[in-house]
Amino acid sequence: MKVTMMGKLLKVIKKCRNQGSYLVWLVSYSLPYIPKIALVMALGIVDTLLSVGLAIILKRIIDGAASGGINGEVILIYLGGVLLSMLIGAISQLISTVLNEKFSFGIRKQIYDKIVRSYWMDVKQYHTGDLLTRMTSDTEIVSEGIVVLIPTIVRLFIELIITFFTLFYFEPSLAVFALVLAPISCLICFILGKKLKKLQIKVQESESKYRSFIQESLSNLLIVKAFANENNSVERLGELRQERFNWVFKKSKMSLVSSAVLSLSFQLGYIGAFTIGAFLLAKKAITFGTMSVFMTLVNRIQAPILALAHTIPRIISVLASAGRVIELQDMPLEISDRTYIDTTHVGVKVEKLCFGYSDDIVLDNISFTVKPGEFVAVVGASGIGKTTLIRLIMSFIHSAAGSIQFINNKGESENVNAGVREFISYVPQGNTLFSGTVRDNIQMGKLTATEDEIQEALNLSASAHFVQQLPHGLDTVIGEKGHGLSEGQAQRIAIARALIRKSPLLILDEATSALDEPTELKVIEGIRSQKPRITCLIISHRKSVLGYCDRELQIDNKKISENIA
Ligand SMILES: Nc1ncnc2c1ncn2[C@@H]1O[C@H](COP(=O)(O)OP(=O)(O)O)[C@@H](O)[C@H]1O
Ligand SMILES: [Mg+2]
Repeated sequence: MKVTMMGKLLKVIKKCRNQGSYLVWLVSYSLPYIPKIALVMALGIVDTLLSVGLAIILKRIIDGAASGGINGEVILIYLGGVLLSMLIGAISQLISTVLNEKFSFGIRKQIYDKIVRSYWMDVKQYHTGDLLTRMTSDTEIVSEGIVVLIPTIVRLFIELIITFFTLFYFEPSLAVFALVLAPISCLICFILGKKLKKLQIKVQESESKYRSFIQESLSNLLIVKAFANENNSVERLGELRQERFNWVFKKSKMSLVSSAVLSLSFQLGYIGAFTIGAFLLAKKAITFGTMSVFMTLVNRIQAPILALAHTIPRIISVLASAGRVIELQDMPLEISDRTYIDTTHVGVKVEKLCFGYSDDIVLDNISFTVKPGEFVAVVGASGIGKTTLIRLIMSFIHSAAGSIQFINNKGESENVNAGVREFISYVPQGNTLFSGTVRDNIQMGKLTATEDEIQEALNLSASAHFVQQLPHGLDTVIGEKGHGLSEGQAQRIAIARALIRKSPLLILDEATSALDEPTELKVIEGIRSQKPRITCLIISHRKSVLGYCDRELQIDNKKISENIA
């Protein structure tokens, strides 16, 4: 019993801390934008003061008219006030729009930066569609919340206070009556808030699912077609949209119920106050002018209260989305602590390394050394752990047991970390080209690559001939994932992208699988002939490639062993 109570208490504390940390993040992120946000608020306040002033001027006009006089000057002032109010509205709208754009772009940039610098496995837990939703839809909600909602809330509060005291000045009893139902709104909002937040998270989750499906099925359109899945896919899209709609509908219903209850309580307040006003007017206790001020101001009190109540679901949406954005912000950054050993020639020393993605071990206590300058083949059945070993060496994934070190000829060594990628060239399995020109893709390996360096990389990867034959040569635009090139051509461009880095360590993960044997051998020969001689880890199933390697390491049954031919 005690334990569950404690557990509950801890949960509540954690929740409060979470909400607190969202707010801290939101506030700290908003700091640079505060002057502009304050300007929007100030304009809102000026506008509010102006409208109260206009109500008072109106009282004068009506009272004047009731006693038989019309003052043209006062009417002109009234007109000027209305125009000024319109101008202020337009200016603050413009500033808000610009601010919103800048603010949301700023958050997006920050998240993108975070995602590309976080651990690969942490990021991979999210579907790219989900990441995209968090970066677009959630960010938009948060940005609007800060840039539009906060100034609105502040303005409404100030409007409420000013109006209340103005009304209080003219007729205290009416003012108090107009506000008497305000606490009810607070209570209702508080009760519904929690439920609304849960619903809002569901809405955003279903949006993520929906986008993920679109993104995945479009990038695998060929598979959709090949398996005649067109109808299925369209239906599935409909289902996902329906799922989202259901959550949106539930949330809207909840928001509507709260608004309706609030509206009703305020209407009742208004009618009550109006009846009292009419009663006082009949008794000649107040003037027509006071009654008109009252009617305008009571509306002006109710409007901000109602508007404030309506902002509650929006505030809750902001908090829900902020939570989804901050979850990404909370991902730890990759450790990148290169100690700058001499990397002219590097090898790899693996000792007692164990790894499993889950409780299932993939690599169990493996040790081996690749000396600087060696060409080593890593072989083994599909799914045995070859790519996993490469990921560990590249520091994409991390092992709790054992060590991976980079060694040089001078006896220096350095533990694996993200920084070592600087001296590794990697050609991953599968098609990894980007949309853009062939040149863009190759230059990804070295942004400052000269024309000569590009040509050299093309020659070494046996790509020069086919690139020349492309309609615009190096400047031919290729689609997503190398669309427009054959699999083997895409692989060779990926190799050129790696070779242009001129790193001392090259890792090829089934990088030549789609090439015919003579081309493959040409590529391997090209790599071997490089000066200074580089170290190379090659994963391949081809016997002919293995013939070019100094040694062969075999992964089998979670262990690694030397294959002696
Ligand atoms: N991201 C991942 N999460 C969980 N398990 C994985 C992941 N990637 C690979 N595996 C599993 O690890 C094992 C080794 O995979 P891998 O190293 O890719 O094999 P291969 O030797 O074919 O390159 C396989 O059983 C595979 O299912
Ligand atoms: Mg593999």
